[in-house]
Amino acid sequence: MDEQTARRDLLRICHLMYERSYVVSSDGNVSVQLDDGRILATPTMTCKGRMTEDLIAITDLDGRSLNNQRASSELAMHLLIYRERPDVKAVCHAHPPHGTAFAVAGLAIDQPILSEVILTLGCVPLAEYGTPSTDELSDAMRPLVKHHNALLMANHGAVAYGSDLWQAFDRLETLEHTAKIAILARVLGGSRNLSPEAIEKLINVRESAGYLDQGARCQACGYLHETNLACPTGDRPSRSSSSSANGSGKISLTREELIELLAQAARE
Ligand code: 13P
Repeated sequence: MDEQTARRDLLRICHLMYERSYVVSSDGNVSVQLDDGRILATPTMTCKGRMTEDLIAITDLDGRSLNNQRASSELAMHLLIYRERPDVKAVCHAHPPHGTAFAVAGLAIDQPILSEVILTLGCVPLAEYGTPSTDELSDAMRPLVKHHNALLMANHGAVAYGSDLWQAFDRLETLEHTAKIAILARVLGGSRNLSPEAIEKLINVRESAGYLDQGARCQACGYLHETNLACPTGDRPSRSSSSSANGSGKISLTREELIELLAQAARE
């Protein structure tokens, strides 16, 4: 992307994130990689609603500053995503309230409730908690970045990324919208999941249409385990260390997991 377009879009997205309450105060950060490899990033401790173009920080791919602005304290997390995913050219991190509520509750956004989300975003796993701006956070995210286009960060927020700023922002928006619908459905008595057959069809459509490739099957994803679809790399983390599911949709749980599930149901 050329610098002029990148500056304009970055500013517009900062303002949109603030207007939509995906961030408050100085929360969140956005970055974009230019054609020449340099990174434009939001500066640290700056309200995205009041961002102006002159505040944009410029760094190299190792995070070294190339102008007089101090880039976001979370830049290392953005750089990790650029390194792990050469197709990604823009990253948006925010604390959208519904998505972040999932992250605070220790939940991934991975229930098969919306056909369009399975088609275009896939499930959004929960990365374990890591202290913001440290390697802990990058280490927690690293195994998930390759297979997903958006992640929840436990007790923190959400991050989405894409081939340009608008795709990254759109994915963040879809994440937040999905989380909101999931919470509302729960208030109305609970959501009805799509069947394994319907999920398989949607995954086949998204792969033939090129929305997501087979790498997105290798997910720490609740609904994928309901299907007969194989993971092409075998690199398919499960949501739980010991529970498992087979193609018939049956799951097996350890005694401890069953007790935890029953306790959770009783609490609810
Ligand atoms: P920065 O102001 O350093 O970008 O940090 C904001 C933030 O959201 C931390 O999670």
